[in-house]
Amino acid sequence: MTSIPYYCASGEEQSVFQVAFESKLPLMLTGPTGCGKTRLIEHMASVLDRPLITVTCHDDLTSADLMGRFLVKSGDVQWVDGPLSRAVREGAICYLDEIVEARRDTLAVLHSLTDHRRMLYLDRTGESLVAPNGFMLVCSYNPSSRSALKELKPSFRQRFATVDLDYLAPEEERAVVVSETGASPAVAKTLVELATALRSTTDAGVHEAPSTRTLVTAAKLASAGLALPQAIDAAVVAPLVRGGAVDDGLREILHAVLAPISPEGAAC
Ligand SMILES: Nc1ncnc2c1ncn2[C@@H]1O[C@H](COP(=O)(O)OP(=O)(O)OP(=O)(O)O)[C@@H](O)[C@H]1O
Ligand SMILES: [Mg+2]
Repeated sequence: MTSIPYYCASGEEQSVFQVAFESKLPLMLTGPTGCGKTRLIEHMASVLDRPLITVTCHDDLTSADLMGRFLVKSGDVQWVDGPLSRAVREGAICYLDEIVEARRDTLAVLHSLTDHRRMLYLDRTGESLVAPNGFMLVCSYNPSSRSALKELKPSFRQRFATVDLDYLAPEEERAVVVSETGASPAVAKTLVELATALRSTTDAGVHEAPSTRTLVTAAKLASAGLALPQAIDAAVVAPLVRGGAVDDGLREILHAVLAPISPEGAAC
């Protein structure tokens, strides 16, 4: 038996997910990069014992990419399901990641699947697939990404129960860093303090917020032997700045949080 992927909850998102699944409703997860959207879906698919089929959306994704197409195989023309129709047939959880990247005409095929009909019409084969109880559609996007400006149509957004996730409270985020990497509580504390300080200045437009993912990466580098300041520089700071220009505000925050760390104390 495979183990359930670890997920630390920030609120009621697991209950909302479960109830949406039982109520045969689609779910939309929003939140900043690296806050746990994908991990929540992996966790819940495992808890609900459903297969998970993931599609990363992009500009060139067509409805045929989702639904399937006729292909020539060994001289025969055969229908091959796309990930969406496969998920409907199998009663799987279909996860459309970065849904705002998909074109509107591609999303149109989801309309009949995301309302009371729960039906996918494959116009090329003439089939109408009715989703079984085990099927669930889950989508996610980051509302502050550039693509989110394209916006999803209200008629699409309002079909979904929506959960807005954010970075965890410090105590929980420390627990995630420890659980994901085996880092010491002291290292996790330093990383989360740094993230909290950096996030508090993002509103001023100084730099973007570092995600939980960057803290996990830094802790992994430190656990593998890199000194903590170097690990932080590579995993947390460098991805935040463009062209290597660490501005004064960022430098001040780093100095304040990292000053108490001696090289000996920095190791995991
Ligand atoms: N709530 C959480 N519980 C457990 N791990 C978490 C949580 N939040 C973040 N993580 C850690 O951070 C990493 C990134 O999380 P995840 O991939 O779920 O982010 P995301 O919200 O899907 O980001 P993106 O929008 O960039 O795809 C995970 O692999 C995990 O190590
Ligand atoms: Mg993700």
